[in-house]
Amino acid sequence: MEAIDWKNLPFGYIKTNYNVRCTFSDGKWGPIEVSDSEYIPMHMAAACLHYGQEAFEGLKAFRGADGKVRVFRMDENAARFRSSAEGIMMEPLPTDIFCEMVRKVVALNAEFVPPYGTGASLYIRPLEIGISPQVGVKPSKDYLVVMFVTPVGPYFKTGFAPTKVCMSRNYDRVAPLGTGAFKIGGNYAASLKAGELAHDLGYSVMFYLDPKEKKYLDECGAANFFGIRGNSYITPDSSSILPSITNKSICQLAEDLGMTVERRHIPVEELETFEEVGACGTAAVISPVGEIDDIDTGRSYKYGDGNPGKISTLLYNKLRGIQLGEEPDTHGWVEIIEDI
Ligand SMILES: Cc1ncc(COP(=O)(O)O)c(C=O)c1O
Repeated sequence: MEAIDWKNLPFGYIKTNYNVRCTFSDGKWGPIEVSDSEYIPMHMAAACLHYGQEAFEGLKAFRGADGKVRVFRMDENAARFRSSAEGIMMEPLPTDIFCEMVRKVVALNAEFVPPYGTGASLYIRPLEIGISPQVGVKPSKDYLVVMFVTPVGPYFKTGFAPTKVCMSRNYDRVAPLGTGAFKIGGNYAASLKAGELAHDLGYSVMFYLDPKEKKYLDECGAANFFGIRGNSYITPDSSSILPSITNKSICQLAEDLGMTVERRHIPVEELETFEEVGACGTAAVISPVGEIDDIDTGRSYKYGDGNPGKISTLLYNKLRGIQLGEEPDTHGWVEIIEDI
């Protein structure tokens, strides 16, 4: 293995030793198989290649100060993976197989779990595809689940320093009664144009408004949005956003700190009333947002003095503390992968 510069890792792909796979065919899931190949042999008429039957997940493993490796809330990712599969008529992977695959793929690649103190983590990427060869729009009969890992650094180049995002009504990630609540490839394909435009204009991501009325805040690129005002943590309730496991966890942490959590529609105009705002997700962790520019109207919303806000920092430290085994895991969110 080539020496990895753990402290300067980007959020990207690095080849590791093994991945694990499980196939659904003849109406049942087969055994978990270990592979050292980075490739998937596939029929050119496979359903996923034509009709987009693909779902994925993203979760992380962390090495703690005690040297132990902890995986964060894998049961939640297993449940969402099933929900995404069902959303596009794929066979849902049983939770016990999902969790066993996670334990196995992390253990097999233990040397790629970044050392404690580097800020990096091991990103685990499960994906499911429809593999039956067919021409004609209908659900596949057979499915393949692959889980690979890659060590990653911060998602936004700015890390925990506040980032700048833009907002426009000219782009939607998903349709009002569409697939926004599922983690499927098609949603991300649909977001690429807006994402590249945001980058070209010097922003880290595109901030989406609700696709039906364009009145309410929806998602901040591939992350959920939150705003903080006084003692309240306010985050969108919307059927077109991905139910973020990070956001769910932060809501709990905010309540633990005695804050009021509001999950509701957030009108765009409310942006001017927040004291702190941010994006949250497995990749983004908690990424404070320092500026939101509405590129349709020219209006700009600014937050803070260039540093992360006080409450965002508090929540970030709590969340990271639990993931790294520095804070008590009072909600039972982490599983220690034994003997690695
Ligand atoms: C569109 C979208 N929203 C939100 C999130 C954050 O979800 P989570 O915290 O479960 O990673 C992600 C990342 O998974 C995402 O892709």
